Amino acid sequence: MALARMGNADRTADLGEEYRRIRQATEELCAPLEIEDYGVQSMPEASPAKWHLAHTTWFFEEFVCAAWDAGYERTHALYRQLFNSYYVSIGPAHPRAERGLLTRPTVREVYRYREQIDEHLLALCGRRIDDAELAGRILLGLQHEQQHQELLLTDLKHAFWRNPLRPAYLPAAHARPAGFAPLAFVDCGGGLREIGYAGTGFCFDNEQPAHRVWAEPYRLASRPVSNSEFREFVRDAGYRRADLWLSDGWDAVQREGWARPLYWSQSLDSEFTLSGETGIDPHAPVSHISFYEAQAFSRWAGARLPSEAEWELVAKTVPVRGNFVEGGRMHPAPMDSAESGAVSSLFGDVWEWTASPYGPYPGYSAARGALGEYNGKFMANQFVLRGGSCATPRGHVRASYRNFLDPKARWQFSGVRLAKDVS
Ligand SMILES: [Fe+2]
Repeated sequence: MALARMGNADRTADLGEEYRRIRQATEELCAPLEIEDYGVQSMPEASPAKWHLAHTTWFFEEFVCAAWDAGYERTHALYRQLFNSYYVSIGPAHPRAERGLLTRPTVREVYRYREQIDEHLLALCGRRIDDAELAGRILLGLQHEQQHQELLLTDLKHAFWRNPLRPAYLPAAHARPAGFAPLAFVDCGGGLREIGYAGTGFCFDNEQPAHRVWAEPYRLASRPVSNSEFREFVRDAGYRRADLWLSDGWDAVQREGWARPLYWSQSLDSEFTLSGETGIDPHAPVSHISFYEAQAFSRWAGARLPSEAEWELVAKTVPVRGNFVEGGRMHPAPMDSAESGAVSSLFGDVWEWTASPYGPYPGYSAARGALGEYNGKFMANQFVLRGGSCATPRGHVRASYRNFLDPKARWQFSGVRLAKDVS
């Protein structure tokens, strides 16, 4: 199975335009940055903006330029190592926790690197690409770049939060009017159903094969958990009651001193955002919680997390609409009321933790070669999140899209939607 599928083999004409648009979007996200912001690394899991700019370029250089052109001369002998993230079969990678030590290449040199690879790729896209594998790799590189656009924002947010000056990346957005509704549970039926990608467009290998699943009748929450609801959990000593937590989660609470979502103030009334410190909107989805916090909340609320299949079976029946990065808010928005009996806000705002460990679907096989390392080798000790966030590019996610994170991770825009059994 190919890692990335090109549904329509003759998308070549659009590919150059798509390439230009997505590469440019990355650089537009960097427009508000000062030069000092580009190099900072606030923790091992987060990378400097400069590294994201270079690594996404390296991906095209490695998997398109060098792989397809026997005479290709690499931009720099060491870039192959400096900007390799985790592809062991390519060779050694610069240690992840030391990306912030790379004062060179400079920001200017990294932008020049992007220009050089862009020239190569746009020339390639300008010719007719008959090779579906090559076109698929370019498309994969663009989807990869979009994933890093989101990481660039969440990594910057963490770095700015660590700075006592608490700088703002962008001006505060005005609150959107909303008719907030109490959380309701919607009956979703059950039976022998199908999940996974079965369309003709792009998907990642981990979304396939489409396959049948058995769902017991279940109920899914009409919307994600709000800040006000999560604040009740905090005030009810949710972080001090071991009976609510999984053992590994309770260990993390003790070890890390968790007492509230990552960016909330101690007073529980303000939070750090990409627009700096702002009041917590009670009607926006809670964000920046780990899988363990999502699970503890669900137990406190007398509910549970949905499986990824339960989430997808509903999501595949609704359009992919929501608060994505292009909206410019870059923060979860207050939720509109759902139609009575409907499930809303599945896409955008916050990635929703599911109860499902990240693993291969029945019949899954990773691609051959280094690109097989893209998704498959992470299929242990992670949990699946669904739906995209306010930092995800529009058009990047779909109902079958599977994000995955360490259950302790909190720096992504991750929230929670509840589910219940039908008793
Ligand atoms: Fe990457």
